[in-house]
Formats: sequence, structure tokens, C-alpha cells
Amino acid sequence: MEKLVEIRDLVVRFRTDEGIVSAVNGISYDINVGETLGIVGESGCGKSVSSNALMRILPENGWIESGSILYHSQKGTFDVARLSPRDKRLELLHGKEIAMIFQEPMTSFCPVYTIGNQIMEAIRLHTDIPKSEQKGYAVELLRKVRIAKPEQRVDEYPYQLSGGMRQRAMIAMALASHPRLLIADEPTTSLDVTVQAQILNLMKDLQQEYGMSIMMINHNFGVIAETTDKVAVMYLGRIVEMADTAELLQNPLHPYTSDLFRSIPQVTDARGKKLEYIHGNVPDAYSIPAGCPYHPRCSRAQKGLCDRVMPQPREAAPGHTVSCHLL
Ligand SMILES: Nc1ncnc2c1ncn2[C@@H]1O[C@H](COP(=O)(O)OP(=O)(O)OP(=O)(O)O)[C@@H](O)[C@H]1O
Ligand SMILES: [Mg+2]
Repeated sequence: MEKLVEIRDLVVRFRTDEGIVSAVNGISYDINVGETLGIVGESGCGKSVSSNALMRILPENGWIESGSILYHSQKGTFDVARLSPRDKRLELLHGKEIAMIFQEPMTSFCPVYTIGNQIMEAIRLHTDIPKSEQKGYAVELLRKVRIAKPEQRVDEYPYQLSGGMRQRAMIAMALASHPRLLIADEPTTSLDVTVQAQILNLMKDLQQEYGMSIMMINHNFGVIAETTDKVAVMYLGRIVEMADTAELLQNPLHPYTSDLFRSIPQVTDARGKKLEYIHGNVPDAYSIPAGCPYHPRCSRAQKGLCDRVMPQPREAAPGHTVSCHLL
């Protein structure tokens, strides 16, 4: 398979009033061309920080401490982690190669401009399409994301669209540059389940049409199971398990993965069944426990081992790696 991104031993840190925190602690993964990689894990485990590092859009107080992010662009391969902030290749990355969509499209659209004007701005910045054709292309993009009456919607303001429509419009804007990688950070979390399913299906269809890779970030294993080819399960800045999605669903090996699975409600569950959840909270990044970071919450932790020794990633089956002493 042709590779698009190869991340190795990536460490990302933040300076805060309380000291320095490692939000991402040595993660490695690949994204192949045309593939969907899922990143799953509870809030605060480093999903967004790792994708923001790949885009080099970390906040002022954050930096890449070590590791590499090889990106195979159409204009050659480079290490994103080593680019200076003024390197032209960052423009290539942001403008043409990678697009992002976020959870709340209201914050990505400016309320005082029409949807069309904002999509046209993306077209102007990221393509060579002449001015006279930009509006037509914006309408075409809105049609692609299945917005009804796109000729009319293009002149409307963000508040005039429903949440689902705004999310579609944001996808339209992301598609303007024909990106090779779409990073979708919790793209449907604020939408109701039916609309969420429609948007996820739309993304799948567009992926086929555009031949894009997708990085699907989500805390919901249901969404990840339905939409991805491969999954990285993150906990406290580490990837604790990674495998093809089908393999992971059949054969979850890390207790954290199994615990995440069990917290997805099933339609077939008996009425009144108590919702499962994982006991305890994710510790904050300042107080990462010794040994396996999951041991304080793990029902199968072994005293003297899991609370002392950090488990190293091991290959349980071809392409299926796990960091757990139980293996
Ligand atoms: N600007 C920042 N300054 C200090 N710490 C930060 C900053 N941004 C993120 N962090 C810390 O990095 C860790 C990972 O955060 P991240 O946003 O990647 O989590 P996440 O997995 O995306 O969670 P969520 O599901 O809530 O979006 C958290 O512990 C967070 O507190
Ligand atoms: Mg996040």
C-alpha cells in the first residue's frame, strides 16, 4: 500500500503554569493512501493534539519535543516535525494536501459572511479557479455534499442552516482544494444520530470519489467501527492497541479497548439495563501513573507488575499491536 503519512515516536509537550506536560508520549502510526484511520479514546487522551501536531497548528505553549512526521506530498516527502514555521511546504500542507473538519461548524464559519462567500474564499486561496467561475464551483461543492437548492443556500448565512447542513457546508469547504487527507476531529458529535449517520455516509462516498485518506477522530467506538479501516486506541498520550478495524472488533486484547467497547449501548440491550462505563476518570496529564498508565482503572491489573513496569508494544497478530502485560 502507498503511504501518505508515517509518524514515528512523536512526543508533544505543553508548557503550563503547573509545569511541562507531555500530551502525546511517543506515538507511531501510518496512514495509507485512500485509507481511513480511526483514533479513539476518552477525552483528554491526546487525539486532537496528535492531529494538530501533524498540521503544525499547536498553540503557542506547545511544541514537538521529538519524533518524526514523514509526509509524502505530491511535491516530495518531508518531515513535518522539522519544518520551520515559515517553510513554504506548510502552505502546501494546509492549502492543498490536508483539510480539517471539526465538531462545531458554527465556530468555523464566520457569522457575518454568507456560506458561499466563505467557500469561495477557500476556493480563491487554495485553487487556480478564475474568479468568474468561483461561485459556480461553490454551488457545485454544496450539491456534492447533498445540500438541497444549493443555488439558494449559497447566499445564506450560517445561522440560516441547520447543524447538519452547516456540517455539510464545512465538508464542502474542505473539499474545495481536493485534499489528499481529511482530518475529521469529532465531526458529528454535536448532531443527532440520524443526521450523524447521513454525514458519515456522505464522507465515505466522497472519499471514494476523491480517493482521499481520512483520519477519523472520535471518542465513540460505534462511529469508529462503522467508518474506519484501521484503528489506534489512545490512552494518556499513548497508542495502547492498534489493528485493522475488523480484527480489533473481533479480538480486542487491551482491557482498555474492551472497556471502551462495553460502554457502547446496543439496540438489543434489555430495557432498563444499566449503561456500562469505565470506572474512574482519565488521570490528568500531570499525574501519569507509574507502570501501565491504565492500571489504576484496569480490572485485570496485576500487582507488582502493571503498577511498576510500562508494557512495551508487541505484535499479537500481523498488524495487531498491543501494549499490555496480559499478553
Ligand atoms: N494548550 C494546551 N496547554 C496545555 N495542555 C494542553 C493544551 N492543549 C491540550 N492540552 C492537554 O493535552 C492533553 C490531550 O488533549 P487533547 O485535546 O488532544 O485530547 P482529546 O483526546 O482530543 O480529547 P477530547 O475528546 O476531549 O477532544 C490533555 O491532557 C490536555 O489537557
Ligand atoms: Mg479533541
